[in-house]
Amino acid sequence: MTQPLEKPAAHLEIIPATLEQEPILGNLLELYSHDFSELQELSLGEDGRFGYKRLPLYWSEPARYPFLIRMNGKWAGLVFVKRGSEVSGREAIWDMAEFFIVRAYRRRGVGTQTAHEIFRRFPGLWEVRVVPSNVPACHFWARAISSFTGEAINPARVENTNLWELYSFESKPGAELR
Ligand SMILES: CC(C)(COP(=O)(O)OP(=O)(O)OC[C@H]1O[C@@H](n2cnc3c(N)ncnc32)[C@H](O)[C@@H]1OP(=O)(O)O)[C@@H](O)C(=O)NCCC(=O)NCCS
Repeated sequence: MTQPLEKPAAHLEIIPATLEQEPILGNLLELYSHDFSELQELSLGEDGRFGYKRLPLYWSEPARYPFLIRMNGKWAGLVFVKRGSEVSGREAIWDMAEFFIVRAYRRRGVGTQTAHEIFRRFPGLWEVRVVPSNVPACHFWARAISSFTGEAINPARVENTNLWELYSFESKPGAELR
């Protein structure tokens, strides 16, 4: 009797990006910016790209951490983590500078698994800033953070260069194991 084929388990990797992988991040950032261009005033440059001026800083400044996400051996997104609050200027804060999951991999839990792994790798105080018009991301972060900390979270509305829904919380060692 033949056995039903078992679906292979999804294999998620969150990889610190090397300088050689900068062009891959540059390409993924174009997809990210295109998504954002529906929410914010972003226009293409003469070269047909949105561009991301701060990208080289991720290898020249020690307080910046770029990651690539790989799902079953294929690129599935990126995460940029930065030390220092964009809201208060407080140094002892991890800031979620950018977070992006490729459309084909959305609504499968990849974003949540990635966020939890990143929170685990950077214990301490965190801030996640979301533009209020990015309603799906607000739903996503409220759920991803509360399932990590085990507590409900309500964002604060803050304004500096932008208007933000600000999620502040602490990543405590072992939190995601609850
Ligand atoms: C927001 C984003 C990261 C979510 O990634 P994802 O891998 O699809 O998230 P998950 O599958 O882990 O979603 C977990 C939960 O978040 C919520 N959620 C995720 N996407 C949502 C959407 N589009 N609308 C409403 N709720 C959503 C749901 O509650 C979801 O659970 P469910 O699928 O069981 O309903 C992804 O859509 C993305 O990269 N968007 C573009 C870039 C962006 O906005 N980044 C965040 C900047 S702050």
